[in-house]
Parts: sequence; structure tokens; C-alpha cells
Amino acid sequence: MKFHFFILILIFKIGVLVIPEKREKDKPMSKTHFKFMIKHFEKRDKNYPPNLKIEKTKIKKGNFVLDYGCGPGSYTIAAAEAVGKTGKVYAADIHPLAIEDVKKRAEKRGLCNIETILTECNTKLEDNTVDVVLLLDIFHHLSDPENILRELYRVLKDNGWLSVDDHHLKDDQIITKVTNYGLFKYIEKKDEVFTFMKI
Ligand SMILES: C[S@@+](CC[C@H](N)C(=O)[O-])C[C@H]1O[C@@H](n2cnc3c(N)ncnc32)[C@H](O)[C@@H]1O
Repeated sequence: MKFHFFILILIFKIGVLVIPEKREKDKPMSKTHFKFMIKHFEKRDKNYPPNLKIEKTKIKKGNFVLDYGCGPGSYTIAAAEAVGKTGKVYAADIHPLAIEDVKKRAEKRGLCNIETILTECNTKLEDNTVDVVLLLDIFHHLSDPENILRELYRVLKDNGWLSVDDHHLKDDQIITKVTNYGLFKYIEKKDEVFTFMKI
């Protein structure tokens, strides 16, 4: 009896050591939820035009920007106009409808400096190539923020910065959640936009 119990404990311990920890994965929201969100953003963007938010991220002409969790692209478009023809905006989202919307909006505005990326984490961009990463109104969605932050750290240049805004979280939650993994340090807050840099 004792021996069987010992064997059971041994099997359990080996299992814990050998089976890799299962990471949670984000899933795209339903189409209905996404369309509802777009309607809400139309009102939001009328009340607070996206270019005003982009000004607070200090994006400059010629910058390479990653808009992670771009949604239908309100900030992607404003960022693409701010970086001009010599810059580029990568618009990444887990939702195929987001990618479709960004493409349509870019075409309508005649913007050729936007590239879309359908992903739940891996952007497939080269290491150290992005000047500014935008993480706007998405942090509260992430089930595995560490994995995403590691990816953003990888693609960001050493002197680049990460701009975060999430009205679903309190200020100290944003700072703690972003700095939690020893990747980013907090620099400053301008109105609702937080700036972080690589450690
Ligand atoms: C609330 S919306 C914000 C959209 C945009 N940043 C804005 O503020 O207009 C959040 C977006 O993040 C996307 N998203 C959620 N989890 C994601 C993940 N793991 N990877 C990429 N995109 C994700 C959703 O599909 C959604 O489009």
C-alpha cells in the first residue's frame, strides 16, 4: 500500500516536471462584438480625434511604428499620417476583421506606408527595428501579457519606446504590469499615455 502511494507521488512529480506549463492563448472576439466595438470607436474618435492621442506618443516623421492590437485602425491611420512617406506603421491584431478594416481605411486614405500583421503574439518582424510600439486599449485583453511584452521588447530598438494607454486599468496597475517582467522601465505619463523604455 505504502509502495503504491510512493509510486503515485513519483508519477505526479515527474508529470509536473516533464509536462510544460500550458500558457493561455488569446482568442479573437466574436464578429458581433467586434462590430459593436467599431461603432463605439466611431463615437470615441469623434469626441477625441486619434491624431491628438498620437501627438502624445511623440511619434516623429520617418519613424517605424508597431500598433499592437490595432483594432479597426483609428490610431494606425493617425500614426501613418504622422510618420509620413519615409516611415512605416505595422498594424497587428488577432482579429481578421481588424486586418480587413485597416486595409480598407488605408486604401481609402491613399496611405501606402501601412503593413498589416494577423497574429496573437509573434509579429515576425526583425529584432530591434521599431522606433515606437503602441499598446492602446489592449492591455486589459491580454491573457499572457508577458509573452506579448517579450515580443515587443524583441522588435523595439534599444532607444525606442513603448506607449501604453488603457482606461480599463488604474495608473499603478499599468506601471506594475508593464514593468513586472524586468523588460521595461517606466519613463513618464503625459495625460493618459504612459511611456516605457527597454531596460
Ligand atoms: C479594445 S481594442 C483596441 C483597438 C485599438 N488599439 C484602439 O484603441 O482603437 C483591442 C484590440 O486588441 C486585439 N487583441 C486582443 N488580444 C490580442 C492579441 N493577443 N494579439 C493581438 N491583438 C489582440 C483585439 O482583437 C482588438 O482589436
